[in-house]
Amino acid sequence: MPLVTSTEMFKKAYAGGYAIGAFNVNNMETIQGIVEAAKEERAPLILQVSAGARKYANPTYLKKMVEAAVIDSGLPICLHLDHGDTFELCKDSVDNGFTSVMIDASHHSFEENIALTKKVVAYAHARGVVVEAELGRLAGVEDAVNVSDKDAAFTRPDEVEEFVTKTGVDSLAIAIGTSHGAFKFKTAPRLRFDILEEVGKRLPGFPIVLHGASSVPQEFVKIINEFGGNMAGAQGVPEDMLRQAASMSVCKINIDSDLRMAFTASVRKYFAENPTHFDPRQYLGPARANIKAIVKHKLVEVLGCAGKA
Ligand code: G3H
Ligand code: 13P
Ligand code: ZN
Repeated sequence: MPLVTSTEMFKKAYAGGYAIGAFNVNNMETIQGIVEAAKEERAPLILQVSAGARKYANPTYLKKMVEAAVIDSGLPICLHLDHGDTFELCKDSVDNGFTSVMIDASHHSFEENIALTKKVVAYAHARGVVVEAELGRLAGVEDAVNVSDKDAAFTRPDEVEEFVTKTGVDSLAIAIGTSHGAFKFKTAPRLRFDILEEVGKRLPGFPIVLHGASSVPQEFVKIINEFGGNMAGAQGVPEDMLRQAASMSVCKINIDSDLRMAFTASVRKYFAENPTHFDPRQYLGPARANIKAIVKHKLVEVLGCAGKA
C-alpha cells in the first residue's frame, strides 16, 4: 500500500466519533516507536514533519523512513507537513511526495489567510494532496491578559463557513484553548467546547484538527526532574478533554511534546543508571520503547482509533 491521504481516515473517524493521532517525527527511533504501537493496535496513522524536522533530518530521509514504515506495518499512513508557513514550503512537500500539507496562515489577516490557503489548495488538489489550514490564533490561555484579548485568539465560528467555502480546504485547525509545548498552563485549562460545538454545527461532517494536544504526563515530569532535568510546573491538556473533542468533530489530534518527554525521560534515566555506557543503541532502544508505550496509550485510551486501520 502506498502512502495515503487523510480523506478516508477522517470520514471514518468523524462517523465513528474517534480521532486519528498525528505524531511529529524527527528521527528513526521515534518513527519506529510510533509505528510499532500502531501496528500492534491496528490504528491508522498520520506522521507529520515540521519545518524544524525537515531542517534537522532532511525531508528525503524522513520520507524514506516513513515509506519503510508503510512496508513494515501495512498500515494506512499519511505523511503530513506540519505548520507550513509559505506556499513554497507546501509546494516542495507536495512535489516530494507528502500526501497532506498544512498551510498555517493564521497569523495573517482573514483575507490573506484565505488567499494563501486557496493558492496552496489549488496546487495540492491538482496533485492529489489534501490541505489543512488554521483559523484563530493558537496560544496558551495564560497569555491572554483580559477576556477580550483571550477571545480574540479563539477561532470565530462565524468565519468558518466562509473560510472553508472560499478556500476549498480539506480540514481546519481551530483554536479553543489548547497550546503548543509542555508548559501550556499555570492553572487547570478550560477548553472552549462551546466554540467546537458551534463550528461543528456550521460545518457538518467536516473534519476539525486540534493542535497543542499533549497532556504532559506527570510521570515523565517526575522522571525528568528526578534525573537532572527541570520541567517543574509543566502541565498539559487533560486526556478527558481530548476524549470529548474526539467524540465531537475533531478527527485529528496533534501530539509532539508528550513523545519528546517520553524520549527524554528514558534517556535521562538511562544515563543516570548507566553512567559508563556509550553505545547509542543502549539508550535509544529504551527511548523507542517508551515512545511505543505512550503512543499505545494515546491510541487505545485517548483517541479511540485502535482497531480502525
Ligand atoms: O507544533 C509544532 C510542533 O511541535 C513541531 O515543533 O517546530 O520544534 O519541530 P518543531
Ligand atoms: P504539543 O506541543 O502539545 O505536542 O502540540 C503539537 C502540535 O500541535 C504539532 O503541530
Ligand atoms: Zn501545531
